[in-house]
Amino acid sequence: MKLQDARKDHYRKLAHEQGFRSRAAYKLKELNQSYRIIGPGFGVLDLGCAPGGWTQMAVKLTGNQGKVMGIDLSYVEEIPGAYLIRENIEDEHVIDEIMSYFGRKINAVICDLSPKVSGNWSVDHAKQISLNYDCVKIMDKVLSNKGNAVFKVFDGEYSKEFTDYVKKKFARINLTKPKASRKQSSELYCVCLGFIG
Ligand SMILES: C[S@@+](CC[C@H](N)C(=O)[O-])C[C@H]1O[C@@H](n2cnc3c(N)ncnc32)[C@H](O)[C@@H]1O
Repeated sequence: MKLQDARKDHYRKLAHEQGFRSRAAYKLKELNQSYRIIGPGFGVLDLGCAPGGWTQMAVKLTGNQGKVMGIDLSYVEEIPGAYLIRENIEDEHVIDEIMSYFGRKINAVICDLSPKVSGNWSVDHAKQISLNYDCVKIMDKVLSNKGNAVFKVFDGEYSKEFTDYVKKKFARINLTKPKASRKQSSELYCVCLGFIG
């Protein structure tokens, strides 16, 4: 077995054993260990949350004083400690639903969005980046000063433009690839700390 396959298998097994719905949960765990995006008591918004691995991890990281909301186009089975809605994040009215749930600005926005892939790389890349701009629109309205964010980025033609755009809004950003992310996938994670608006 190749090292990469073994690693993939390792995270899948771990997710199964520890009751996480996706191996993706370990990407968030690892990012959080390095950057402390989420802490106890945080209000966290998870955009593109199905099947729910990141939401489950966010509930764990925020503890019982935290508040976690997840949004996805797909149905997500209930997660104790999280509020889930089935919506398109491109629809502007989701902001009202977010604000009415939290009732205040929040501490972290986490985005792991992927469009339904068409197989045409340029199209899929452009769509994924466009979804990230929609997330930023939401984030601008709901994230509190000094809050944190993370965006999955399909690395390609438009990714630098996107990261340059978010860079201006934060004290610090970092582009990284967690071990739990498959080496052959083009995804990177843009970790953004200290929102300045
Ligand atoms: C890679 S999955 C997220 C995995 C998740 N972080 C986890 O840990 O289980 C990407 C998700 O983005 C969602 N998505 C794509 N476009 C969306 C949109 N416009 N609005 C809401 N969700 C969207 C997809 O339905 C899909 O479930």
